[in-house]
Amino acid sequence: MVIAIDEPNAIQRAALSAQPAIDVRGVTKRYQTRTGTVQALAGVDVMVAAGEVVALVGPSGCGKSTLLRIIAGLEQPDAGEVRLFGLAPTQARREHRFGIAFQAAALLEWRDAAANIALPLELAGWSPAARAKRVAELLARMGLSDAAGRLPRQLSGGMQQRVALARALALAPPVLLLDEPFSALDELTREQLQGELLDLLATIDPAPAVLLVTHNLAEAVLLADRVVVLSRRPAQVLAEVTVDLPRPRRADVRDDEHSHRLVAELRAVLRSDRY
Ligand SMILES: Nc1ncnc2c1ncn2[C@@H]1O[C@H](COP(=O)(O)OP(=O)(O)OP(=O)(O)O)[C@@H](O)[C@H]1O
Ligand SMILES: [Mg+2]
Repeated sequence: MVIAIDEPNAIQRAALSAQPAIDVRGVTKRYQTRTGTVQALAGVDVMVAAGEVVALVGPSGCGKSTLLRIIAGLEQPDAGEVRLFGLAPTQARREHRFGIAFQAAALLEWRDAAANIALPLELAGWSPAARAKRVAELLARMGLSDAAGRLPRQLSGGMQQRVALARALALAPPVLLLDEPFSALDELTREQLQGELLDLLATIDPAPAVLLVTHNLAEAVLLADRVVVLSRRPAQVLAEVTVDLPRPRRADVRDDEHSHRLVAELRAVLRSDRY
């Protein structure tokens, strides 16, 4: 009878891991403004498997941030459905299934770096001692140990982004939602942080599923397993491009000819999107 007890668990586990980390189906979103209706999303389907990194690219204003906010349960779609490991966004949020880093670092100005990173741990009810240990780990991993006591305005843009990323990672969520995490940075700092994120993701076991919004095509190719290209507003999926670069990836893969070809392919898809 041992088998009879074990088997359902094994099957349940398999079913769970086969479930997409993020499943977005037919999501539509309209905003009412003083000057009329703005349609941001028009039936968007996006799937991210457990452990997969998917980049979301598309023209400015097409609805990328809107989609991320809907996945995070911060906004409601007008139509369509979102599931994270089979859970509705609000439940996934309650169960700490995802971490999010917003387009602007969105740190709390009155909290120092350590206290910003500790925020999700506080909300999840961690004890002060457990929080301190985890925050110290994250600060060290992000190269921020010396900046623990500094307020956001005392940190450089790159450091603020590192704090935001550490905060998103604090509860080791199985899903990471990253909205242009490096867009506010100069080219060199940005490339450095891309490399750091690549290394970081390779060290997390099991690897989280990542949905990364960017309009930097080279960044999408460097970091993602697959790139979903959205059209102009109202956004629809124009194309999906598989990034067949081997993992683990080193940041210098960005200089490979194959990376350049993929970037050119993405650019061609975006250019094909005319009114
Ligand atoms: N709360 C809101 N009320 C009204 N309109 C909104 C609201 N939020 C977003 N929009 C509009 O919806 C569209 C999509 O916005 P969104 O921020 O999702 O675009 P985006 O793709 O993230 O752009 P960017 O690349 O510039 O960050 C835009 O036209 C924007 O003006
Ligand atoms: Mg945006």
